[in-house]
Amino acid sequence: MKFNEEALLLTNSDVQKYLSVDDVIEIVENTWKWFGNDEIIMPPKITTDMSPLGVDGWFNSMPNYIKPLDIAGIKVVGGYNGNKKLGMPYIKANVMLTDPYTGLLKALVSGDWISDMRTGAQPAIMCKYLAPKTDNVTIIGAGLQGYTSLLCMSKTIKMKKVYVCDLSLEARKNFISKFDGADFELVDCDNNELACKDSDIIITVTTANADLVKASWVKEGAMVITMGSFKEVEFDVVRQADIIAVDHIAQSLHRGNLKPLAELGEIDENSFDVEIGLLLAGKQTYVPDPKKRVYAQIVGMGCPDVACAETARQRALKDGNVKIFDMQK
Ligand SMILES: NC(=O)c1ccc[n+]([C@@H]2O[C@H](COP(=O)([O-])OP(=O)(O)OC[C@H]3O[C@@H](n4cnc5c(N)ncnc54)[C@H](O)[C@@H]3O)[C@@H](O)[C@H]2O)c1
Repeated sequence: MKFNEEALLLTNSDVQKYLSVDDVIEIVENTWKWFGNDEIIMPPKITTDMSPLGVDGWFNSMPNYIKPLDIAGIKVVGGYNGNKKLGMPYIKANVMLTDPYTGLLKALVSGDWISDMRTGAQPAIMCKYLAPKTDNVTIIGAGLQGYTSLLCMSKTIKMKKVYVCDLSLEARKNFISKFDGADFELVDCDNNELACKDSDIIITVTTANADLVKASWVKEGAMVITMGSFKEVEFDVVRQADIIAVDHIAQSLHRGNLKPLAELGEIDENSFDVEIGLLLAGKQTYVPDPKKRVYAQIVGMGCPDVACAETARQRALKDGNVKIFDMQK
């Protein structure tokens, strides 16, 4: 049987030619809304633990179909602790786009920049809609996702002071140097307590599995967001929250900071006040209250990455200057 299977190959710099940071923020927000409107088919992501191979790492398979773009695809993203020594980032991602009706390959897209930027867009959108106050911010974890988080937040909320916390002095210095000329003050801080106690927003985005934030450091009206893949704050930070928000209820029970609390039976699918997609779709209401503490966990979904990759693919096709491969050749 003869048929054509013409697919694009988009590199990391191709992607950045066709997408801006603002585009990614808009695409993530739209995709969350579509998810809230049941316009996305997306089974839970699956993690492959690579430790039996002696590799200190894991990778997730994140398939989905997005009706408003009529595209199917899968994001494959992993975290590899050995990558740093090889001069590569911890997170490595790729996106494959397929025809939803035939399964034919439409594009292989480098997912690195897309994944990093969509990860940063997530707290930016969460803060825009949920944070009662945004003046003072603490970022714990001055790595790549911490950087994209603050970059995107600088486009969606008004901040005055940002405390940058990390175990590594070099990481903190490097992070701060990337925000030269920012219209907010950056504070190099090696004391999480001092930073958190003075903050309206606290974001943890580290590779740690540790209590980086204590409940007694979180003031009234503050919002804590955990984004790392493991436990990052004391259980009491979640227990004392008046509002609990997530990007995906089912996945939140099996991942990140909320996983151990779900395993203890303290959290279940009825424990959440906000699923951001439902809020954006107008199916939930929320009014920021400076007297309430907000806790949010963002575990990440594959649909924003597929939506970004598809947008880049469509723009590349329009541009015409692209590499097309016939996969049946
Ligand atoms: N939620 C999501 O959608 C999403 C997406 C991508 C990555 N992640 C997760 O975000 C986390 C960070 O990823 P990254 O790419 O920025 O990694 P990275 O290696 O670039 O940065 C991690 C930073 O955390 C710091 N750190 C480690 N332990 C610490 C501790 N105890 N206290 C303070 N700082 C500490 C490290 O020094 C490093 O600077 C990982 O857990 C990753 O899996 C989440």
